[in-house]
Amino acid sequence: MNAQITDRVQRSFSRSFRSYHGSASQQAKIADRLVEEMRLGGAPQQFAAALEFGCGTGHLTHRLCTEFDFQNLTVNDLSPEAAETAEAVRAAFLCGDAETVEWPQRPDLITSASMIQWLHDPRTFLQRAAQALAPGGWLVVSGFGPEQYRELVRVGSNAKAPGLCGSGDMVAAIEDQLDIVSSGESLSSMNFPSPRKVLEHLRRTGVNGRAQKVWTKTSLAQFTDHYVRDFGTDAGVPLTYHPTWVVARKPK
Ligand SMILES: C[S@@+](CC[C@H](N)C(=O)[O-])C[C@H]1O[C@@H](n2cnc3c(N)ncnc32)[C@H](O)[C@@H]1O
Repeated sequence: MNAQITDRVQRSFSRSFRSYHGSASQQAKIADRLVEEMRLGGAPQQFAAALEFGCGTGHLTHRLCTEFDFQNLTVNDLSPEAAETAEAVRAAFLCGDAETVEWPQRPDLITSASMIQWLHDPRTFLQRAAQALAPGGWLVVSGFGPEQYRELVRVGSNAKAPGLCGSGDMVAAIEDQLDIVSSGESLSSMNFPSPRKVLEHLRRTGVNGRAQKVWTKTSLAQFTDHYVRDFGTDAGVPLTYHPTWVVARKPK
């Protein structure tokens, strides 16, 4: 990833570390979904060496540790604050960019929730993960698809994550190396009383790291007018989430 952008993404998530957990209700649901898909797909109860990328405040980490047993669990994040998540579940913490940090050898689970959209090349990341897995190992990953925050794109925001990919793209990246257990995507929408509350939500969840914009009174008024004109309803304004995921297994 471009180093400057990585720095901005990291600073943004670090700033929102305290507010993220309570505000990221969509990401919490996605973490639930991944764990449910693992169960439905027949994942084993125990993993010898698991590796989670972009653990953040631990929506997925905590669910995994409740449902499965790990002999060794390593959790990664760009933001040093996430060391707290590792400590809470007695996992090893690997701080750094998932695309460049050195990975532990031969994990039997590689997983990540709501992180790969921040990578410039999620396809290469998924292929590397598929290759790194031990025979019989599991890959369980979610990201976001092209409809993510479509309202913001329409009103001209540049906050869009660089690596949005549909579940079909994720499957295509790995299907020559792994057996696909399940994959899918969904669209859901959150409602806010006003566009300013949408911006607040983005700040609290740290996802505005690529938006360099400095708001002026005029630009904020234009943003608000445009958002309300195009999307306003009696219930406020919507913000679309487009989670996508894949669960796959490496042949033994
Ligand atoms: C939307 S949060 C998701 C956190 C958690 N997995 C969850 O489901 O709530 C994205 C996390 O990915 C981390 N992240 C973003 N880009 C990353 C990268 N290139 N390498 C490692 N972590 C990254 C951020 O610091 C942040 O904690």
